[in-house]
Amino acid sequence: MSGAETFYVTTPIYYVNDKPHIGHAYTTLACDVLARFKRLDGFDVKFLTGTDEHGQKVEKSAETAGMAPLALADMNSANFRELARILNCSNDDFIRTTEPRHLAACQALWTALVDKGEIYLGAYEGWYSVRDEAFYAEDELVAGPGGTKLAPTGAPVEWVKEPSYFFRLSAWQDRLLKWYEDNLDCVGPQARRNEVISFVKGGLQDLSVSRTSFKWGIPVPGDEAHIMYVWLDALTNYITAVGYPDTSGDFARYWPNVLHMVGKDIVRFHAVFWPAFLMAADLPPPKRVFAHGWWTNEGQKISKSVGNVIDPLSLIETYGLDQVRYFLLREVPFGNDGDFSHRAMMGRMNSELANDYGNLVQRVLSMIGKNCGGQVPEHGPATDEDREMLDAAHGLLDKVRTAMDRQLYHEALEAIWVVIRAANGYVDRQGPWTLKKTDPPRMGTVLWTLAETIRSLALLTQPFMPTSSGRILDQLGIPEAERGFESFGAAHGLRSGTVLPAPQGVFPRFVEEVAG
Ligand code: MSP
Repeated sequence: MSGAETFYVTTPIYYVNDKPHIGHAYTTLACDVLARFKRLDGFDVKFLTGTDEHGQKVEKSAETAGMAPLALADMNSANFRELARILNCSNDDFIRTTEPRHLAACQALWTALVDKGEIYLGAYEGWYSVRDEAFYAEDELVAGPGGTKLAPTGAPVEWVKEPSYFFRLSAWQDRLLKWYEDNLDCVGPQARRNEVISFVKGGLQDLSVSRTSFKWGIPVPGDEAHIMYVWLDALTNYITAVGYPDTSGDFARYWPNVLHMVGKDIVRFHAVFWPAFLMAADLPPPKRVFAHGWWTNEGQKISKSVGNVIDPLSLIETYGLDQVRYFLLREVPFGNDGDFSHRAMMGRMNSELANDYGNLVQRVLSMIGKNCGGQVPEHGPATDEDREMLDAAHGLLDKVRTAMDRQLYHEALEAIWVVIRAANGYVDRQGPWTLKKTDPPRMGTVLWTLAETIRSLALLTQPFMPTSSGRILDQLGIPEAERGFESFGAAHGLRSGTVLPAPQGVFPRFVEEVAG
């Protein structure tokens, strides 16, 4: 892999106070699809996920559960690790903030910030939300029931007064604004970028980066009464995992060519605080932060108190893993909010996967199985329509790559489906079942054109639906070594005479159980 361009992609690290839900699964899947795409496209990829285990929120949850914080973290971190496995994620690493490598990285980053004069001792007096693990200014709060004050997120806040170290965030306003201006792609989508810029333009206050009123966290080097602010601790995971404080090796290899995928609620931490911490420590800021939207459940906000939390495992059991992977990335323009409904899930599963894609593959492969002796057919001279079909298929990689580089998964899938639908139209117009009687060589050419189209489609759907696409490629006799995008295109077209296994359906329909 040496010499290949690198691509580093990260999920947020998940709080261990809770079980995994659809929101976690969504971010992790989006990263997995990108990591797989980039690997197939020849990049040297690192894909990181993990758990955020320190802070007051986890400490309190542990207390409520009657457990030691580390015991709660061990239990829930294992659930997140298992979720990544069940989602068929290809993460190269899974980081826990309670690991020794992370303690070393946080303390080194802290020391670097102190050495640069970016951290000073003071006292914090103001609002804090444990649920958000965030400080809020008075003017950000909103009115809650009974005259109480709430964070803008609706989370409860409490008044905190304690000695604290501060990071000189106020000094970074202009340099951050310059960073956004010089790097048009550093925050996406555009709406989030605008939001971040206007927040920074509104003025930045120094940020409290240590707490003294609880213990569950990373001690401040040289002043152990202080625990590092959990967000400084958590954000550092992204460089811990590439070996920081050692800046040779993986750090030099992957940093800062990184994409931090996050939910829209945590953009400020990633696109304001994190680049400021890094620049202040003389380290390059990340290349890109992309924020996706939030899911609702059948039109309703997802919340534990409503009891409508979507468990990714039960979704997978009901609809199938690749179907869920496809749905989540197809249903909603990535970056927007979206709604999960059984109806929409079933609709896409049946019309797009079973009818459009599944039928195409099934029809073509079973015709080849029956009429071409189970071998990739010979193909004669191509007609204009054949060429048009193949050009559409072979032109897909560029389109899909452009969409993926902007995290526009829905556009990538739509481009693929345009070709799937075109291929179904081509089958109908060419009528290979009639050609079988009237012109067998022409039938061979039509079926070869279709099989080559399916090869192109299946190569490109691998990142989204790895198992199903792999099964399609198996049925086309494509060896593992020829499934990367270097094998995409006319120069690597299907070889006539390749013996194919018996075709099998890949995308089952969802059949509603009828009571009685
Ligand atoms: N621990 C922090 C992240 C630290 S990163 C250095 C955290 N953890 S979290 O577990 O609360 O949330 C993780 C992600 O889940 C966030 O990106 C959040 O946006 C996402 N989601 C939570 N609920 C969601 C939905 N209903 N829909 C989509 N994503 C949502 O924040």
